[in-house]
Amino acid sequence: MEKVPHFITSPSIGLKLDRETMQLTTEQLGFFKDNGYLIVAGVMDRQLCAKARDRLWNSLPATSKIKRNDPTTHIGPFDKRDVKTDHLDLRQGYRWQLRSVGTEPLLIDLVFSQALQAIATQLLGDNMLHPPQVGGRPMGTQGAAWPDGPVDPADNQGARGIYATLPYGDRPRETDRCHTDGHPFNLGMVGLIDAVPRDGGGFKVWPGSHRRLYSTFQMSYDQPRIPYYPHLPSYKGILHTPEYLAEIKKINDDTPAVDCWGSEGDVVLWHHRTAHMAGHNYSDKIRQAVLYDFTRNDLDHSRMHAPRKDMWHDWSGSLRQVKTTYSRAFSESQHLG
Ligand SMILES: [Fe+2]
Repeated sequence: MEKVPHFITSPSIGLKLDRETMQLTTEQLGFFKDNGYLIVAGVMDRQLCAKARDRLWNSLPATSKIKRNDPTTHIGPFDKRDVKTDHLDLRQGYRWQLRSVGTEPLLIDLVFSQALQAIATQLLGDNMLHPPQVGGRPMGTQGAAWPDGPVDPADNQGARGIYATLPYGDRPRETDRCHTDGHPFNLGMVGLIDAVPRDGGGFKVWPGSHRRLYSTFQMSYDQPRIPYYPHLPSYKGILHTPEYLAEIKKINDDTPAVDCWGSEGDVVLWHHRTAHMAGHNYSDKIRQAVLYDFTRNDLDHSRMHAPRKDMWHDWSGSLRQVKTTYSRAFSESQHLG
């Protein structure tokens, strides 16, 4: 797809919320609409971020080889003795996904704070947010969605959990490959609970992919899933349309990924059809983030529809109306050249 120039020359407010109104600016809204993601700096409470890091480390047994105060032990993959295959508390290879904490008050305070509710409301509309449930069912409770498959993030009443990526050490560099998520939700969020340097495993997004992919799905939120049968084991998983497969291949070939590195407390918001990946961690520091999916309280109804003619049908009036114009400086603040 042709790249359209969207730059205007006005000075940029940058990464932060408008100081006076604590609202996203028109420029931020326009950028999100055009690119399918938005980095907002310093939204999460730093004390809560510190507590979340403590919560992650305190989940390790004292006998673990990996030690919080010794960064030389942080290089992945996990040692045999530290590997855990429980989907609620997964430690495998370079991935550390503590999902059992996703409905604890700490995690819900982090991802569903007043500030984040205000931002999500600006994007999804007034009185539309479906709230998470403290003490509810965390993601991973049912195990994998099918044998050897991923966990279904929609079967979850809180945050997805604390997701960490261990440094790759001397593992050779790999090519970035994007995917989309096949479960129903409206707006994704990745919140950094610790600073993440460039190439340090930050969330990676393919700008503009949401607009190119939206109409290639059969349903506006879901992707059809092939049931798994033990006596018919070869065919399982998510079913993609030929149009989707062709477009995502093109996106992988023609669009460079944006690395959403940042500081403690920064968040990345992303459209549910934005192509993305968990970044490779070539730094010497563990990537630590919380993940949450905002859903609208009409998702049970809206997910029945095929993709709409207007892909912004289920978004706020301000987002639907906003022009996709923003300054070059603003674009650069979003790590997009
Ligand atoms: Fe994903």
